[in-house]
Amino acid sequence: MARTALVIGASRGIGREFVRQFIADGWKVFATARDETSLAMLTDEGAHAIKIDVTKPESLAELPWRLDGERIDLALYVAGVLPNWEGAAESPTLADFDAAMHANVLGAMQALPLLAPFVADAKGRFVFITSVMGSIAEATSSTAWIYRASKAALNMAVYSARRDYPDLTLAVIHPGWVQTDMGGPGATVAVRDSVSGMRQVIDHLKPSDSGAFLAYDGRKIAW
Ligand SMILES: NC(=O)c1ccc[n+]([C@@H]2O[C@H](COP(=O)([O-])OP(=O)(O)OC[C@H]3O[C@@H](n4cnc5c(N)ncnc54)[C@H](OP(=O)(O)O)[C@@H]3O)[C@@H](O)[C@H]2O)c1
Repeated sequence: MARTALVIGASRGIGREFVRQFIADGWKVFATARDETSLAMLTDEGAHAIKIDVTKPESLAELPWRLDGERIDLALYVAGVLPNWEGAAESPTLADFDAAMHANVLGAMQALPLLAPFVADAKGRFVFITSVMGSIAEATSSTAWIYRASKAALNMAVYSARRDYPDLTLAVIHPGWVQTDMGGPGATVAVRDSVSGMRQVIDHLKPSDSGAFLAYDGRKIAW
C-alpha cells in the first residue's frame, strides 16, 4: 500500500526535495506552502497542496480537517527561518527573535498535538528538521545566535514530548549544511543527498528511538 507523507514547509529547499522524492517513489503526499505560485507548483508535481503559514495558529489549525480520514506514515516539520548570522555581540531585535521563535519553535509545538492523532493511527514517525547549531554540546561560537537558541528550544520541545506520544516515533534531524537559500552556495551537501540521507535515517527509526537527535548521515548528535 502507498505510504502517506505530510511535508510542512515545501515551497523550496529541503521540503520541496522531500516532496519530489516521495512522489517519485509513489507516496501520497500532502505538502504545505504559503504562496499561490508554490501551491500550484506542488499540485503540478502531484502533491495535495495545502496553504499553511506556521506562524499563524489559525492557519495551522486548518490542517486536521484538511487531513480528515488520512493516516500519516511520516510527518515532517521542515519550515524554518534564520533571521540573521549575528552573534552574542549584538542585541537581538524583537522582530528577528519573534520570527525565529514563531516559525522554528511555536509552529512545531502547535503542529505536534494537532497532527499526532493522524501519525499515531499509522504508528508513524513525526520528524522535525533541526540543526546542529541547536546542539549545546557542539556549540563552538554564537554565530546565528537567535537561530541556535530557536533550534535548541525545538530540540527540547520534541525530546520532552516523546512520552506523551507513545504511539508515534519522534525525532529531530540535522540535514547537513545544505545548498538551499538558507544554506547558501558555499554549503557542502547537495539537497538531493541531504534528503535521501535523511530518508534512510528516518526509515531506520524504531519506536524505541523516539526523541533521537541525528544527522542526515546517521550520526548521533549530542544535545
Ligand atoms: N540549509 C541548511 O544548511 C540547513 C542546515 C540546518 C538546518 N536547516 C533547516 O532545514 C529546514 C529547511 O531549510 P532550507 O535550507 O530548505 O531553507 P529555505 O530554502 O530557506 O526554505 C525554508 C522553508 O521554510 C518555509 N517557511 C519559512 N517560514 C514559514 C512560515 N511562516 N510558514 C510556512 N513555511 C515557512 C519556507 O517557505 P516560504 O517559501 O514561504 O518562505 C521554505 O519552504 C529549516 O528548518 C532549516 O532551519 C537547514
